[in-house]
Amino acid sequence: MTDRYAVVGNPVEHSRSPAIHAMFAEQMGQALSYERLLAPLDGFEATLCAFAAAGAKGCNITVPFKFDAFALAMEHTERAARAGAVNTLRFDEGGWVGDNTDGAGLVNDIQRNARRPLEGLQVLLVGAGGAAAGVLGSLIAARPARITIVNRTLDKAKALVDGHADLGVALSAATLADAPAAQDIVVNATSTSLAGAASPVDAHVLKAGTLALDMMYGTKAQGFLDWAAAHGAEPRDGLGMLVEQAAEAFFFWRGLRPDTTPVLKAIRNELGATL
Ligand code: ATR
Repeated sequence: MTDRYAVVGNPVEHSRSPAIHAMFAEQMGQALSYERLLAPLDGFEATLCAFAAAGAKGCNITVPFKFDAFALAMEHTERAARAGAVNTLRFDEGGWVGDNTDGAGLVNDIQRNARRPLEGLQVLLVGAGGAAAGVLGSLIAARPARITIVNRTLDKAKALVDGHADLGVALSAATLADAPAAQDIVVNATSTSLAGAASPVDAHVLKAGTLALDMMYGTKAQGFLDWAAAHGAEPRDGLGMLVEQAAEAFFFWRGLRPDTTPVLKAIRNELGATL
């Protein structure tokens, strides 16, 4: 029987994950299927249980279920435990194992695809919600000189700093208005792009050549990307992160690492994106 996987979310119809995993499977000669599974907002657990009972091997989890998935996993990888959220589940016979591949996806995209080794750099993480929490541990593991977390609600940025203070990288929290100047890397992990806003922080955070990455892609990211380019930064959308987090999930399930370069190119072409 073909091994079954899926992305579970609500909404889920626009997810690019089935296309990405189909390309990985073809590239690696793996017989598997990967579908979209819409879970009712009050029926996430029942949807997962039915999928696992039908013989599925695992799934990705997207909005708004990453915290529920964390609660349902019987075991967690260290990075999932640190994030407090799960985007990848493996249905092992001994119990469901939860992982979080978002942070590794972001870091791999920055370091391999955008060719910016993070070690020693000044990093600004904008936002302190679920998306920011999911990637902070992996950003720290790449040993930048400092990570500043800025957020509209300062207390949430402070809580993230407190939760990661033992990891040996300088961390600070500030309001959006107090964001530090001239950063090497700026990551927009807020949901402001959803409303078409340009940037939640002032352009003084940028300098010539700053890598300014929005975790969104497609039209949602455009306002931020245009803002970054207009101020001399190098804009980058979240498509590379999406493909890289999928590759980490594929490895978690299958023990094989697909080549992400042709897949990112193909997905970009499909979306008609220019970056
Ligand atoms: P996600 O899972 O996408 O991270 P979230 O946990 O709701 O969603 O977090 C949304 C993030 O976007 C938060 O950092 C939020 O700031 P607050 O913590 O102050 O709510 C940020 N955000 C949302 N709308 C914003 C806005 N209009 N201006 C600035 N930040 C905003």
